[in-house]
Parts: sequence; structure tokens; C-alpha cells
Amino acid sequence: MLKYILAIESSCDDTSASVLADGKILSNLTATQTIHERFGGVVPELASRDHEKNIVPVVHEALKTSGVEKKQLNAIAFTRGPGLIGSLLVGTSFAKSMALALNIPIIEVNHMQAHVLAHFIDDPKPKFPFICLTVSGGHTQIVLTSTSDTTGKIEMKVVGETQDDAAGEAFDKTAKILGLPYPGGTLIDKNARDGNPHAFEFPRPRIDGLNFSFSGLKTAILYFVRDQQKLDADFVTKNLPDICASVQYTIVSILLSKLKKAAEDFQINEIAIAGGVSANSGLRNAFQLLGKEQNWNTYIPDFQYCTDNAAMIAMAAWFKYLNGDFTRQDITPLARYSI
Ligand code: KG4
Ligand code: ZN
Repeated sequence: MLKYILAIESSCDDTSASVLADGKILSNLTATQTIHERFGGVVPELASRDHEKNIVPVVHEALKTSGVEKKQLNAIAFTRGPGLIGSLLVGTSFAKSMALALNIPIIEVNHMQAHVLAHFIDDPKPKFPFICLTVSGGHTQIVLTSTSDTTGKIEMKVVGETQDDAAGEAFDKTAKILGLPYPGGTLIDKNARDGNPHAFEFPRPRIDGLNFSFSGLKTAILYFVRDQQKLDADFVTKNLPDICASVQYTIVSILLSKLKKAAEDFQINEIAIAGGVSANSGLRNAFQLLGKEQNWNTYIPDFQYCTDNAAMIAMAAWFKYLNGDFTRQDITPLARYSI
């Protein structure tokens, strides 16, 4: 008999629900909150309230689309963290109470692990051990993913991460400096397509090992734009594609140089990218080119599984379900939750 899992993701500003049957995604629905645009960033209190409003219809739609009935569910999975605590509480409480009502177990999922495991939704799937560069709005991590020799369970180790801003933040803060609305990552991507990536040069941080830093770049962009605007008030409007292309090129180069180093350090050629920023066309193209040059097998999630989604939570929960790894009802969400 097929096993069905309903998964809920509510860590930031997307309310998402997905239904999985034996490791296959049947539905994946996301309500993206637009209320934050006018504030130039996610307002936690408003995010929680919108989750509360969205969660019932989103879960209902995910079940309806999948053709699975509530009484067929074998478990309910939810994002325990990391994320905004008020947002996490909505998904956690909803999952707990629905599971209690249906008398089925719950499965807690780490959001950053789920981004990595999004690679198991579609084919081709990476072979263990593999390295994943997870780049999102709050995190930038290089994750070594393997299976335990004794238990066969998936094990993840963060071997490099940002010391300050995340790559997604570098995109979003640049967008803000350029007067683009939140979240600006996709708009930088769009404008960069018509620009020259070598029009302007920005500094690259010197950080040892596999760690990253993006706060210096943000400051350099801020000063550069301010100085240019003193000479020409219309500098940004006149040069938007070139600025976006140059910033994107710099961020992508920083990310890929560390990823290349990680592949060399660990002698692994199964390499993946994940998280919201892996939707960036500049990163996707440059990653594939580098992969060809380095003889890597490269893995990029489908667009819908890059940014926050419940399908990746369902996939991560499926691995736990197979191991009988269920969660107690007295669990609480965690704003900080390392892999
Ligand atoms: O993984 P995600 O959806 O949420 C978090 O877990 O943070 O990532 C969101 C981040 C935001 O910073 C957003 O601007 C960025 O991913 N992003 C992009 C693109 N699409 C989303 N950044 C650059 N180019 C894109 N196409
Ligand atoms: Zn995420």
C-alpha cells in the first residue's frame, strides 16, 4: 500500500503544502505573501498573520490537487526551523493538531536539509557522497552529504558558510540600493540579462577556507552607487542592466570559486546547488559551464523546488519516514536550527 505524507512549510513568507506518495510528489502549492513588498523586507508579525490566514486553504488545495483524502495520510511533516519563530509556530501547531485529530505521527524537518534533499524529487538524483551549495535568503552553506556506513542514514556536514550576509541578502540589499522592490533577487537577475558583467568591478572578499563573506561587497556597492550619483543623478537608471550584471557576476564568482575549492578538497565530483538563489540564471549557467570544465556531474533543482516549497519538506520527511524517525507531540519550533 502506498504511504502518503502531507508536508507544510511556513518558515518565512511562503505558506506551502505538498502531498507525497512513496517518495513521489503529487502536489505542491505555495501562497506567496505580497504584503511585505511595501516594507522592503519581511515583517515577521505580518508573516505569521498571513500564514494563519493561508494555511487552511493551501493545505486544502494541496490535498485536493493530489486526489488524496485526509484519512489516507500516514504522517504530517512540517518545518521546525530555521526561520521566523512566529511563522514556524503556525505550521508546527497546524501539523500537530491535524495529526492529533487524524491519529497519525508527525515528522519535523530542518529547512536547510530539505533544500539539499530537494534534489531527490526529480531525476537525475545525485549519488552519495555529494556536495551541495545551498544559497538562500538567510543562508549560504557548502554541505557535504553522505550516507552512514553503519545505519545507511543521510548525514550532512556544513563545511563552509557565510560569516555575515547570505548570498540572497547580497542580491536583495543590492536591489534595495538600486531602488528595486523586495525581494530584489529576481529583478537583479532579469536586468542582468541585458547587461555587461564586466562593466563595473567590485571587490571580492579574502576569506580563508570554504567560508564566505558578503557584507563588504554590499558596502562597496552602496558607496559606488552613492559616488556615481553625485556625478550623475540618473546613474542608476542609465546603467541598471550593467550594474545588475556586474554585481551578479561578482556574487556568482565568489560562490563558484569556493564550490570549486570544496570539490578539490574533498575529491568529489557530484556537485549540486540549491535554495532560492539557485534560481538565478547567471548562477545556473556559470555552474553548468564550470561543471563541464571540471568534469562534475551537476545537479540543479527545477525552479519550483529552488525557492521555499513544501515538496522539499515532504521529500526530507520521506527519508525520515523510511527510518521510522517520528517526532513527539511536545516538540517546539526553532528559529536557529543547524543542520
Ligand atoms: O530559499 P529561499 O526561497 O528562502 C529562504 O530560505 O531564505 O530564498 C530566497 C532568496 C531571496 O534572497 C531571493 O531574492 C533569492 O532567494 N532569489 C534570487 C532569485 N530568485 C530568488 N536571487 C537571485 N536571482 C534569482 N533569480
Ligand atoms: Zn529556504
